[in-house]
Amino acid sequence: MDCEGLAKAWLAAAFEAVVPGCGGGKVVPSKDSRFGDWQCNDAMGIAKRAGKNPREVAQAVVQALPLPEILEKAEVAGPGFINLTLSRKAVAAGVEALAADPKLGVAQRGAGEKVVIDYSSPNVAKPMHIGHIRSTVIGNAIDRILRALGYEVIADNHLGDWGTQFGILIMGYRAFLTDEERANLTVELLEKVYVQSYGRTKDDPAWLDRCREELVKLQAGDAENRAVWERFIEISLKEFGRIYARLGVKFDLYRGESYYQPTLGPTVEALRAQGLATQSEGAWIVDLKDAGLEVAIVQKRDGGFNYTTTDIATVKSRVEEFAPARIIYVTDERQQLHFKQFFHICGRLGLCGKTLLQHVWFGLMRLPEGTFSTRQGNVIKLETLLDEAAARARKIVDESHPDWPEAERAALAEAIGIGAIKYADLSHDPTTMIVFTWDKALALEGNSGPYLQYANARLNSLLEKYRATVGQEPDTQPLALGTEAEKALALHLLQFPNAIQRAGDLCKPSVLADYLYQLSQLYSSFYQSSPVLKAESEAVRDSRIRLCSAVSKVLRGGLTLLGIPTPERI
Ligand code: ARG
Repeated sequence: MDCEGLAKAWLAAAFEAVVPGCGGGKVVPSKDSRFGDWQCNDAMGIAKRAGKNPREVAQAVVQALPLPEILEKAEVAGPGFINLTLSRKAVAAGVEALAADPKLGVAQRGAGEKVVIDYSSPNVAKPMHIGHIRSTVIGNAIDRILRALGYEVIADNHLGDWGTQFGILIMGYRAFLTDEERANLTVELLEKVYVQSYGRTKDDPAWLDRCREELVKLQAGDAENRAVWERFIEISLKEFGRIYARLGVKFDLYRGESYYQPTLGPTVEALRAQGLATQSEGAWIVDLKDAGLEVAIVQKRDGGFNYTTTDIATVKSRVEEFAPARIIYVTDERQQLHFKQFFHICGRLGLCGKTLLQHVWFGLMRLPEGTFSTRQGNVIKLETLLDEAAARARKIVDESHPDWPEAERAALAEAIGIGAIKYADLSHDPTTMIVFTWDKALALEGNSGPYLQYANARLNSLLEKYRATVGQEPDTQPLALGTEAEKALALHLLQFPNAIQRAGDLCKPSVLADYLYQLSQLYSSFYQSSPVLKAESEAVRDSRIRLCSAVSKVLRGGLTLLGIPTPERI
């Protein structure tokens, strides 16, 4: 068992001996290392419930059983805190074990459980804009973290590939594009003709009618319209795919809204049969006012279905096919009501079984001067943002390494640019609004992606240097913790599995980002106070390099779970 497990088991047994059945024994890292490494705050609550004096309970707990080998001391402080100091030997052994484990000590708590995660999910025939970046980046980090916890993750890109816009789009595509443009179709062109065609529906009723006809034809399976629609999807996926490749994002499924079309009628049917859907002005609605969730329309007056209907049908399909423990949806905050509504409806329909539905929402990202818009009021496109990040990073790379081969400089600039954007997003609690600034995102100092990438690259070169000068692998000699800085760093390494667990449970990659930033800070204090290659003895040098190697593994592993590239050298 790991240190934490052993300490907890000892404490739990001691609590049990003092107040049977109390369930005490949780430990958390101490806020202040002067008072020990970990602390347990359970004695206060337990004493209160048992009508006892908390200090006396705590005192009895630390004396109930002989101290296990992993602990140097257990002391009572203040009103009844129990402070634990770990033995350096135990911490060192813990770090050695964690670093030797390919999973870096992360318990496979999700083994045997499936999780569906619905993220990115852009709309076809519209460019992905900056608003989609958070869903893609946060969703992908959660995806990776859950896989690290052993869950079987099904990443599903729920594309917006169906809806009334396709009639307008088909008309625009036929009327406003040249043959050449049609042959070299892009999402940008599709967006342009959509705007044009939509504009015309406003003042030309005949045009609007024709758009509706084309939509009806498409919905009825008309071969020609179907082929055009498929083309829209193909072009969009090609473009999205380019962005996903740059971001290192992969999906298991691309099941767009269209996939669920055949089941929408039966979905409304079921709602009616259970008396949940009622008719109102020709439309079918589910009145959720009693639950404080307003009214959801499930079938429009013209017979069309909407977003809510599709999402209900999607839950049914996913539960039947995968029986997942959870379905996680990642979208911006503006969709909260929609998710509450259809979660509630699915519950009333009894569709969920054991599946938990969870909406992970995030705030919007803004530039200091306001929203993410250009002067013309257009929303900045994701690809433009990535290009700009890479171009800015390229300047930094060119200045520091004018002699490196062109291809390496380009690849490094891309990795730093992507890392900067992703980390600027992931290092904030998802529910907060982010004010994005280039200087902060690309800073080589401070809490930024490039800073952590740089720390990782420097560790690589230190390990390389050790191999070259000492002539052995960094992990061969024993780890013995000497200085306080070494112990603090090692203790933090032992917290890695907890950070992953918490990030996964809360669906907050920011927990992991915070952990990694703290790791880099502890590493830098260690490095400044404790020379490695020039240590006072070979044994100290070999022990310190082993610690560095563990930091390197955890830092690289953690960045990878955030989806942040880790270039070898910077
Ligand atoms: N296509 C939607 C949009 O861009 C997001 C879909 C999210 N997923 C879902 N199952 N509703 O706003």
